[in-house]
Amino acid sequence: IIVILDFGSQYSELIARRIRETQVYSEVLSYRTTAEQLKQLNPKGIIFSGGPSSVYDKKAPHCDPEIWNLGVPILGVCYGMQLMVQQLGGEVTSADRGEYGKASLLIDDPTDLLTNVEDGTTMWMSHGDSVTKMPEGFEVLAHTANTPCAAIAHHEKKLYGVQFHPEVVHSIGGIALIRNFVYHICDCEPTWTTAAFVEQSIREIRAKVGDKRVLLALSGGVDSSTLAFLLYKAIGDQLTCMFIDQGFMRKEEPERLVKLFQEQFHIPVEHVQARERFLNAIAGVTDPEEKRRRIGHEFISVFEEESKRLGPFDYLAQGTLYPDVIESADTNVDPKSGERVAVKIKSHHNVGGLPKDLRFKLVEPLRKLFKDEVRKVGRSIGLPEEIVQRQPFPGPGLAIRILGEVTAERLEILRDADLIVRQEINRQGMYNQFWQAFAVLLPIRSVGVMGDQRTYAYPIVLRFVSSEDGMTADWARVPYDFLETVSTRIVNEVRGVNRVVYDITSKPPGTIEWE
Ligand code: XMP
Repeated sequence: IIVILDFGSQYSELIARRIRETQVYSEVLSYRTTAEQLKQLNPKGIIFSGGPSSVYDKKAPHCDPEIWNLGVPILGVCYGMQLMVQQLGGEVTSADRGEYGKASLLIDDPTDLLTNVEDGTTMWMSHGDSVTKMPEGFEVLAHTANTPCAAIAHHEKKLYGVQFHPEVVHSIGGIALIRNFVYHICDCEPTWTTAAFVEQSIREIRAKVGDKRVLLALSGGVDSSTLAFLLYKAIGDQLTCMFIDQGFMRKEEPERLVKLFQEQFHIPVEHVQARERFLNAIAGVTDPEEKRRRIGHEFISVFEEESKRLGPFDYLAQGTLYPDVIESADTNVDPKSGERVAVKIKSHHNVGGLPKDLRFKLVEPLRKLFKDEVRKVGRSIGLPEEIVQRQPFPGPGLAIRILGEVTAERLEILRDADLIVRQEINRQGMYNQFWQAFAVLLPIRSVGVMGDQRTYAYPIVLRFVSSEDGMTADWARVPYDFLETVSTRIVNEVRGVNRVVYDITSKPPGTIEWE
């Protein structure tokens, strides 16, 4: 394991991902982690992340000074390097000129940390402070036009510092540097592989669950599907997979999901048909938040009833991923047992969580994984690409893509239009170009003409966006011909629709969904 101590950088997680890409396991821990705690983990190397502070600020985060004596190789990145220099007796001062953006790295010592890193390679900088005096025993490995100490090393103690950010994509030589640190300096073996993960998590699930029963709510996404597969492999019939069909999924999706699990994976699924209940729960409701609230509430009710009917269960399987664990460290822990407990089924259901008497203990086999790692595992166990690469799909599903009142008729229309959108996108091989691409139904009617007939029907909005994380998004510049094909097919094939419009609003100010 390589431990990353986080000093508040927005890139700490990214460093962990980069390390894992070299097939070496890494974890992000707080900068408060003591040398004693680190010893227990027995890391092969430690990376100090960057951070927003200046080392000479009164409140600047410092590490346990004993860490320098562990004898473990350490790489300080940006703030991490400055901290190393300051704590070991060097000097850091506010630079006359900060350095932000791309910089050309001029290499003074092309061995060790910088082996195979090209002289003049681009590295990405973001700092206002600079190292002006190195601690004893350190040497300069590289500099840039504005930064004399861009990479430094104490070869004997295996302490390294870089002023730039090797983890970001703009740093061309960054990967080579990280590989040098991980393989040559820390002497790690590439053992963090998908197969090893599957094997290990099956062992861990068995050890944890014993002969107890586990309930899992399948949603159709890659997380819950992968989870189901791992658990079934580990504990077989002690697992109950439940799929609550709210009636708001896309065309044929529920049937395909259940069929995939039962026929291909031979994992039994309790298919709970609750379409009518959900439709009744939001009958006449037009306010988006009220819809979400009622759907969330109904979900809890159905979940509660069904888990009582099928139970009792000791554990609830939850598809928590590593980023949630980093962000919510120490929350939701039962003070008595120290176990994580379920307070929410899924945050997007926006409800207070499960009733008190229904509190399960959790099994969370994916909690060490990043999303892209879940996809790799999913793929390795044979999940089809349509699940592995599925675009984000909101918990309340099509109910929030029909503006205003949701009716069975409107759901049917939207499902048909959405199917055409997906078919045409797949035909063009464009599915992975979008963060999300979908259809929205507006509850208004406009006039059209088909043949000699005047029509008066719903418009469909096409919403295709690109995004990194869903927080901001840009509307996708798709070819006109493609839009024309989709539009023509929808108007010709979907009864009740006579107009198709394309949404050219970015987020912000628009949101991705229309409700
Ligand atoms: P917005 O519309 O806020 O969406 O730009 C950002 C991302 O969140 C998804 N989204 C939801 N997901 N339940 C969910 O599980 C919801 O109620 C919900 N609303 C929006 C949306 O699809 C996009 O990926």
